[in-house]
Amino acid sequence: MPSDALTPDAASSASDSPSTWSGRFAEPMSERMQRFNASVDFDRRLAACDIAGSRAHARMLAAQRVISSEDLAAIERGLDEIEGAIERGEFDWQRALEDVHFNIERRLTERVGDAGKRLHTARSRNDQVATDLRLWLRGAIDAIDGAIVALRRALLDLALQHVDTIMPGFTHMQVAQPVTFAHHLMAYDAMLARDGERMRDCRRRVNRLPLGSAALAGTSFPIDREAVAHELGFDALAPNSLDAVSDRDFAIEFEAAAALVMVHLSRFAEELVLWSNPRFGFVTLADRFCTGSSIMPQKKNPDVPELVRGKSGRVIGHLVSLLVLMKAQPLAYNKDNQEDKEPLFDTVDTLADCLAIMTDLVRSGIGVNAERMRDAAREGHATATDLADYLVRKGVPFRDAHEAVARAVREAEARNVDLAALPLDVLRQFSSHVERDVFDVLTLEGSVASRSHAGGTAPTTVRAAIAAARRDIGS
Ligand code: ARG
Repeated sequence: MPSDALTPDAASSASDSPSTWSGRFAEPMSERMQRFNASVDFDRRLAACDIAGSRAHARMLAAQRVISSEDLAAIERGLDEIEGAIERGEFDWQRALEDVHFNIERRLTERVGDAGKRLHTARSRNDQVATDLRLWLRGAIDAIDGAIVALRRALLDLALQHVDTIMPGFTHMQVAQPVTFAHHLMAYDAMLARDGERMRDCRRRVNRLPLGSAALAGTSFPIDREAVAHELGFDALAPNSLDAVSDRDFAIEFEAAAALVMVHLSRFAEELVLWSNPRFGFVTLADRFCTGSSIMPQKKNPDVPELVRGKSGRVIGHLVSLLVLMKAQPLAYNKDNQEDKEPLFDTVDTLADCLAIMTDLVRSGIGVNAERMRDAAREGHATATDLADYLVRKGVPFRDAHEAVARAVREAEARNVDLAALPLDVLRQFSSHVERDVFDVLTLEGSVASRSHAGGTAPTTVRAAIAAARRDIGS
């Protein structure tokens, strides 16, 4: 079946639909044009914010004696009714009325007459939509920030159980040095802590009031923007009317912060995919987060991390969409900006979903196979750096120590054993400074415990890092 857009245009059938423009226009829109132009199918999500903005605007107009108190009472009553109808799913959204703003305004006028027609005094849809979007995004940021904290809490709880669990740390995806599993998890906590910080920082610039800018140049009415800002909880006024109705940098900033969250989640997801592969066998993902194959009966696939990894692509794409949407737009408002909403909404939905499912997974879906992790850390000569550091403490210059250990590793490779398994007399062939106490540093526990400075992998340090992170999120 062809999509709606590919069916023949019904040029005349729109003539009896409600016209928004009337007087100035001599002919009705075709159905194709209506469909193309309308945003109500998606921007109705802004309805609650649109109504909040209208209430604040109307109250300010009445306080400034631009409208009467009777008009204000009628507007408030009408908006209350409309809000109720929308919440109950009884509002009749009409595409012919283009967007959320016209739909609500038209209904208000139907309910309360001339008072409804006065609401738009000293206002334009341009400052109205910018205000709605900022209000909506502010709420979304707060929800995302909370979801980030929930994931951090789950990570911290898991980390606390694995302060003494040792796994190989990797660089270049090759075994590098032993680390504690808790330390590895806490790396993601550090990323998410910055993500939360970025969200809150971005919120400050989102939370500025465009209303009062009207179409682009401001208004000739004696408005009180401070009062509107105060009522709607904005921290400040947007300082320039042309800028306030046109720029969407606040949304782009949010998109960038969101893309970074997704990049971080995708890295964790990728590790879960690798770790759950039997060749690693570091973790087992609970069945309820996995699926099987329609043809291969033995398969258990890590769908949750794979989907999170995949969904990072669309969020990164939305960032690019908004950047390109804004690029080279002349001042002030252009209809291009109607295209800002779908990417923004989808980003918030995707982010909220991914954070929630990852929280569930971390909270109860990751079985940790500590033995496998430990075995893997024993392969690959993970304590070679510790041996070099040992020689340095015995007075050997670091470069010479590095070379001596490199030759010892080669010998271990030839014998097909780990460096830590070479007997004392063999180790002594590479440096006369090696003594019996060398085996203290060649153990995995000795290696991790020795890295006890701030930011290191030692159990004592990681325990303190977990406590500090808990204080940071207030639990
Ligand atoms: N639906 C429009 C948008 O999302 C509202 C603003 C329209 N303004 C205008 N001058 N046509 O941007």
